[in-house]
Amino acid sequence: EGSGHPIWVSQIPVPWSPEMLKGKRVIVTGASTGIGEEMAYHLARMGSHILITARTESKLQKVVERCRELGAASAQYISGTMEDMAFAEHVVKEAQTSLGGLDMLILNHVGTSYFGYFDGDVGHVRKLLEINFLSYVAMTVSALPMLKESEGSIVVVSSMAGKVGFPFTVPYSATKFALDGFFSSLRQEFHIQNINVSITLCILGFIDTDRALRAAADVLLVPPAPRAECALEILKGGALRRRELYYRYGSTRLPLLLRDCAAELLDRLVRSRYRLDRIGTGQRRHPPAPPDRR
Ligand SMILES: NC(=O)c1ccc[n+]([C@@H]2O[C@H](COP(=O)([O-])OP(=O)(O)OC[C@H]3O[C@@H](n4cnc5c(N)ncnc54)[C@H](OP(=O)(O)O)[C@@H]3O)[C@@H](O)[C@H]2O)c1
Repeated sequence: EGSGHPIWVSQIPVPWSPEMLKGKRVIVTGASTGIGEEMAYHLARMGSHILITARTESKLQKVVERCRELGAASAQYISGTMEDMAFAEHVVKEAQTSLGGLDMLILNHVGTSYFGYFDGDVGHVRKLLEINFLSYVAMTVSALPMLKESEGSIVVVSSMAGKVGFPFTVPYSATKFALDGFFSSLRQEFHIQNINVSITLCILGFIDTDRALRAAADVLLVPPAPRAECALEILKGGALRRRELYYRYGSTRLPLLLRDCAAELLDRLVRSRYRLDRIGTGQRRHPPAPPDRR
């Protein structure tokens, strides 16, 4: 390896330090609320250059203001919808023009879906694939030249529901499985081509964001984990160039170990976490977003 160190030196785990993200240029999508918002605040405290995006401009403005107060090297936002691939690409181009490059691309946004039995709406599945999956692909493609240049990182926020079948979020689960297929395959090609851009897939359990609590707090038997801690773990995983990040570890990684040796047991374990008596048939528990917030 050009540095003159023996090869095993690169295998020694590096300890985490917030300094790792100081001065780094980072895009966080879906940062107007929830885990994305918390990631923006952590990055601000670490002194990063932050570019955030989501649809709701008024919320983004407030998050950016707070980031500046917390010590961000710089903070800015672009509002728009990830249903539009041209917008997804535009966000990345903005990093080029205003930050002169990119060190970390954090893909975190998700479109609104419902909580309940699959209702057969194919159009909704297609739309959700565009927002939760295709826009991730589009942003990655646009960002790759900058990330190759900086030897940077891609952080993809997924879920337990992207590793094992989950009931009541069928379209959402499908989009998260798609992310695993795309980014795990891409990581293989990066290794083969010696492209030094890391890809971290984040497997999250139930987190206490407003959206998740509204959708599932009364039907899930598991306690939610805190979003601020979750956000920090994601940033650490990305900075340390981990392949996958599990949060919380005990309630995500350990059950998933059963997937290949006792799949039916894992399926049953997943089902046992729901209060099935509280699930309505085809009922939309998750209020749809206002029609146009662009
Ligand atoms: N919370 C959990 O229990 C949990 C569990 C597993 C995985 N995760 C994953 O963690 C990530 C963050 O989740 P969260 O709970 O923090 O969600 P959240 O609070 O609902 O945040 C979602 C973000 O995406 C944005 N967004 C929604 N639709 C959009 C669109 N069409 N175009 C652009 N942006 C859009 C939202 O802002 P606007 O509405 O302003 O656009 C918001 O900033 C997601 O990838 C989710 O799948 C969460």
